[in-house]
Amino acid sequence: MLNRLVGAALLSAVVTVAVRPVVLDIDASKGNATEFTVAAFVETNIGRADDGGLYAELIQNRAFQEADSYLSIPGWTKVGDRTVLMKDADEPLAALQNSMQIWVPGNETEGLRAGLSNSGWWGIPVKPQTYKASFFAKRAPDSPLEGTIQLTLSSTTNGRTYASASLSAQDVTVEWKQFHATLTPTESAPDANNVFNLTIDVTKHDQGLWVNLVSLFPPTLNDRPNGLRKDLANVVKDMGAKYIRIPGGSNLQGSTIANGYNWTATLGALESRPGRLGYWVGYQTEGLGLKELLDMCEDFNASAILGVYAAYSASDQSVPNTPQLDKYIESAVNELHFVLGDPATNKWAKLRADLGHPEPYHLEYVELGNEDYTSTTYDYRWERFTSAMSAAYPHLKYVASADLTGAPVVDLHDFSGPDAFISSFDRYDNRPRTGTKVLELENAVITTNSADPFGDPVSRLLYPTLQGSLAEAVFIMGMQRNGDLVLGTSYAPYLANVHATQWTPNMINFNATHILRSTSYYVHQMISKARADTVHPTTSTTSFGPLYWVATSANSRTFFLQVANVNSTAIPLSATIHNIRVNFRSPSPKASATVLTSPLGLNASNTMDELDVVRPAPLAVQVLGNARGVSLSAVIPGYSFSVIRVDV
Ligand SMILES: *[C@@H]1O[C@H](CO)[C@@H](O)[C@H](O)[C@H]1NC(C)=O
Ligand SMILES: *[C@@H]1O[C@H](CO)[C@@H](O)[C@H](O)[C@H]1NC(C)=O
Ligand SMILES: *[C@@H]1O[C@H](CO)[C@@H](O)[C@H](O)[C@H]1NC(C)=O
Ligand SMILES: *[C@@H]1O[C@H](CO)[C@@H](O)[C@H](O)[C@H]1NC(C)=O
Ligand SMILES: *[C@@H]1O[C@H](CO)[C@@H](O)[C@H](O)[C@H]1NC(C)=O
Ligand SMILES: *[C@@H]1O[C@H](CO)[C@@H](O)[C@H](O)[C@H]1NC(C)=O
Ligand SMILES: *[C@@H]1O[C@H](CO)[C@@H](O)[C@H](O)[C@H]1NC(C)=O
Ligand SMILES: *[C@@H]1O[C@H](CO)[C@@H](O)[C@H](O)[C@H]1NC(C)=O
Repeated sequence: MLNRLVGAALLSAVVTVAVRPVVLDIDASKGNATEFTVAAFVETNIGRADDGGLYAELIQNRAFQEADSYLSIPGWTKVGDRTVLMKDADEPLAALQNSMQIWVPGNETEGLRAGLSNSGWWGIPVKPQTYKASFFAKRAPDSPLEGTIQLTLSSTTNGRTYASASLSAQDVTVEWKQFHATLTPTESAPDANNVFNLTIDVTKHDQGLWVNLVSLFPPTLNDRPNGLRKDLANVVKDMGAKYIRIPGGSNLQGSTIANGYNWTATLGALESRPGRLGYWVGYQTEGLGLKELLDMCEDFNASAILGVYAAYSASDQSVPNTPQLDKYIESAVNELHFVLGDPATNKWAKLRADLGHPEPYHLEYVELGNEDYTSTTYDYRWERFTSAMSAAYPHLKYVASADLTGAPVVDLHDFSGPDAFISSFDRYDNRPRTGTKVLELENAVITTNSADPFGDPVSRLLYPTLQGSLAEAVFIMGMQRNGDLVLGTSYAPYLANVHATQWTPNMINFNATHILRSTSYYVHQMISKARADTVHPTTSTTSFGPLYWVATSANSRTFFLQVANVNSTAIPLSATIHNIRVNFRSPSPKASATVLTSPLGLNASNTMDELDVVRPAPLAVQVLGNARGVSLSAVIPGYSFSVIRVDV
């Protein structure tokens, strides 16, 4: 009866668009349990995702770790014509090897100032809010300082100073000492072309000092000290990911064994973190260290998929299967103690408590390494690392970063073109059920040319396009249909500063002031919001393509029908959900739907120049219900991805 009603209603639609409707039948009483979830992957370093990105530090190269030569220090310029700025490796501050010497050789006119100036990560947003500035300073034994040390935020567009703070220069002694000040502009600067200056009076001959760890923080997410850039963090948070894979990526591996990630060197006081040559770009501070990343997961209501260092570099060097490997295995086990252990019995857990987090973090998944399918040594490393880790923490799920036979979970990565993604819709229908589960923690349509995804620069995408994002949606629906096997997915890379992009496309691009949510961001967010516990069988007289779909439900009360249309022509859809078990009060199920599409078609794309070309919008959906089931209908636009939600 219901079917006939809906069928009649659809008849007119059929006439208008001249396409045969697709009719689906969803059996609510059958299905597989699913844990499928949209995850996030915050790969540190790539595209300046951490320093210059999520990490709120506004000062670029705050500890002078990136130095081209003694006199050329990226991020910094001098203030005052006669000022000399010199990188000095003979006056380290704790683990920070390079200090900056500020020196004025000879007498200067009274009233002039000398110092250094930083233009931030391609700009510093100046707004009426409180900025926390800090730096370490020391002076030479024979050279006490006079006058003031001034900190300013000023505009290079209009020359105005928006905030300043003064400290007594006499307080600088021959020992390193940290100085703090707040800067509170009362109005916004016209743009981000602002600089942070630290200057001294230069009325005295040969006056000079050393500075290090020059830092400036705006308000951070949840006001955490040493925290996250609020606007950008909120965009990632709004994705609603349940799991966040941290910290990388090739950057976990490092370019050599010596440059690999060492979690202990990312903890505690910032001056005791030596930093590390990033795999992708520059030198990273590790200011966004392990503790900060775990706190981020908590702030996002997510739990980490913890990437542990696996003694294998991105340039294919392995630590041999000898006692040399022991310290890395021990380090991995200690890392788990740090995350999960009891402060009363374990020193690493006690360190966590001392750093302000006595409770263990929530952790289910530990991934050993990154993309170890490139390695011939993963077998012994997997065996030795996971047996040690699971002896200490047997309840954790250990994820192999290669398609390793017998692993509890494997993380598989896919980068290709739209055709390859669409034809991967059935990939997991055909994967044998051996007990090994799958995470797909890095995938993206990166090109329009599936035949040569990495080799054809012309077809490479700069930003995700509707075509690519729809193809990703199709592949991810294929994963969800196999929710008994596939546990989750993540786009990669997630974040890139447009001024430091080594890889395209990225899910979220940004500069100091603006954030680009791509079409792929919206696809993942729509799927993330449709988190379900059951995937239902569907039957249809129409086979998949150009319409693809998956039906799921949560708590037997909320049904989701995801539908992608990869053809230009709109297609009428009707679906019946029958055998609904809950005692629902017919005939008023509630339905709503969201669609991502664009009149610009496949090439539609959000770009830094046009941030909001494509956004999710409501889709009209009709719904009818009685005690036997629910029928719904909608016209699925050409080139679109929709999530229809029905609450019974
Ligand atoms: C600096 O100036 C003062 C006063 O003008 C003068 O006495 C002194 O000799 C000058 N020193 C140098 C090194 O030029
Ligand atoms: C800050 O430094 C810049 C050089 O980068 C200089 O042009 C500007 O005058 C300085 N402003 C203040 C207030 O020190
Ligand atoms: C990590 O760094 C610490 C110093 O912070 C060092 O003692 C330790 O040996 C390093 N661990 C590994 C596995 O290299
Ligand atoms: C956090 O996530 C859990 C499950 O993942 C959910 O039950 C809870 O409502 C979430 N809390 C917030 C504040 O979103
Ligand atoms: C449930 O999983 C099995 C394989 O484990 C598969 O054959 C079946 O089609 C799945 N059912 C649904 C509704 O996805
Ligand atoms: C797209 O739709 C048009 C019009 O209905 C049809 O001619 C064409 O074959 C379709 N293409 C695909 C790939 O289904
Ligand atoms: C999309 O862009 C590609 C490359 O710029 C171009 O060849 C193609 O014709 C465009 N397609 C549409 C539908 O505009
Ligand atoms: C950031 O990008 C936007 C365009 O989306 C541009 O208007 C703005 O000037 C850029 N800001 C900076 C600081 O680069």
